[in-house]
Amino acid sequence: MGEITVSGGKNTAVAVIPAALLCNEPCTIENLPDIADVHALVDILRLLGAKVDYVAGSHMTIDASGSTGYQVDYSQTRRLRASYYLLGALLGRCGKAEVAYPGGCDFASRPIDQHLKGFQALGCQIDDRGGVVYAKTERLTGNDVFFDMVTVGGTINVMLAAARAEGTTVIYNAAKEPHIVDLANFLNSMGAKVKGAGTDVIRVRGVKELHGCTYTVIPDQIETGTLMIAAAATRGDVTIRGCIPTHMEALTAKLLEMGIKVTENDDSIRIQPQTVQRAVNVKTQVYPGFPTDLQQPMTALLCMANGTSTVSETIFEQRFKHLDELRRMGAKIKLMDRTVLIEGVEEMYGAPVTVTDLRAGAALVVAGLMAKGVTEIYETSFIDRGYERIEEKLRSLGADIRREKL
Ligand code: EPU
Repeated sequence: MGEITVSGGKNTAVAVIPAALLCNEPCTIENLPDIADVHALVDILRLLGAKVDYVAGSHMTIDASGSTGYQVDYSQTRRLRASYYLLGALLGRCGKAEVAYPGGCDFASRPIDQHLKGFQALGCQIDDRGGVVYAKTERLTGNDVFFDMVTVGGTINVMLAAARAEGTTVIYNAAKEPHIVDLANFLNSMGAKVKGAGTDVIRVRGVKELHGCTYTVIPDQIETGTLMIAAAATRGDVTIRGCIPTHMEALTAKLLEMGIKVTENDDSIRIQPQTVQRAVNVKTQVYPGFPTDLQQPMTALLCMANGTSTVSETIFEQRFKHLDELRRMGAKIKLMDRTVLIEGVEEMYGAPVTVTDLRAGAALVVAGLMAKGVTEIYETSFIDRGYERIEEKLRSLGADIRREKL
């Protein structure tokens, strides 16, 4: 039996930190995860001239009053996908931004045409050449923005710019993920007028100025899910504290269907796996559906379920780079179009494997916990982008896992 506490949300942190550029007073953000993506944003904000007081594991205070920068080059944006939020934040701050296309996890083609379409609707001129987005406007003006598909990043980016636009922006077909609601709460704590976050229509009435605030980000939904899956994988009895169980309903439902006992309390979830875990069918969807970010760790768990499972990916076509690595460990899996067919096996075995992206890394950690023998996981820096000291957390639950310095 073990207990573990979840860190603050990665995907909320990477939106809230650039959002602090929208005001000229200090903003203090608490409960930020101590991960590489947060460190990269600290460096970028400092390069833009903001004062950042960051005490990892405690809080970050951002004072953007002296910031005059609006250019971010590829040497910085390549460090994280969410660097594209600097576009919306800088447009809201000063009406211009020159930001190189992001790097980050490269598991699929990840266009940002919808973000740019949103900025254009708000009166921005966009020039997209040489791997850099040049965006500028004389007057950021609220407007209707209709997304062609549900996009988390697009919704966040337009919210950021719209917070300081003249007039009202209405975002239709908006994403509903918990971090959208968290960003709206942060913006509103700074004096913004955002309504409807968590539904598919978000209204942002732009304001001239925002003020400083102190804000605590929500716990990480995907870390919570990864730990739930890891507990199930090891047949351990684990209580995950400091989480929001209602964010986890899609995963909880699947674990229950597998025969795993899941008990929810106000801010904790207890996993008590059963010896026999049934195969299930999973399909990723936008929130509140099954999150694509848990697709890879869930696939690893199902490799040893009893029977044949399917996992269908509907958000990112090519998010399957973990499959070859799982096969090395004895998984019986076949990819058919966008669906993984998994025939549960009784045993998996340790092997050297390589991480290709953040959640593929989580999948390999889960597989390593289930496998007999030693699994060596290479390229772990992908994992550090989004999980705070994952090996220490799992070791505290009894896992035999350690980081080797190579
Ligand atoms: N899309 C477009 N054009 C756009 C934007 C999106 O075609 O302009 C497509 C994408 O290619 C994809 C779909 O729309 O097929 C959804 O993409 P979305 O914009 O929602 O994803 P994202 O903003 O790039 C965020 C998270 C991801 C998470 C997805 C889906 C952040 C920083 N990233 O990405 O998180 O998988 O939403 O929930 O919030 C992760 O944490 O490992 C991660 C990749």
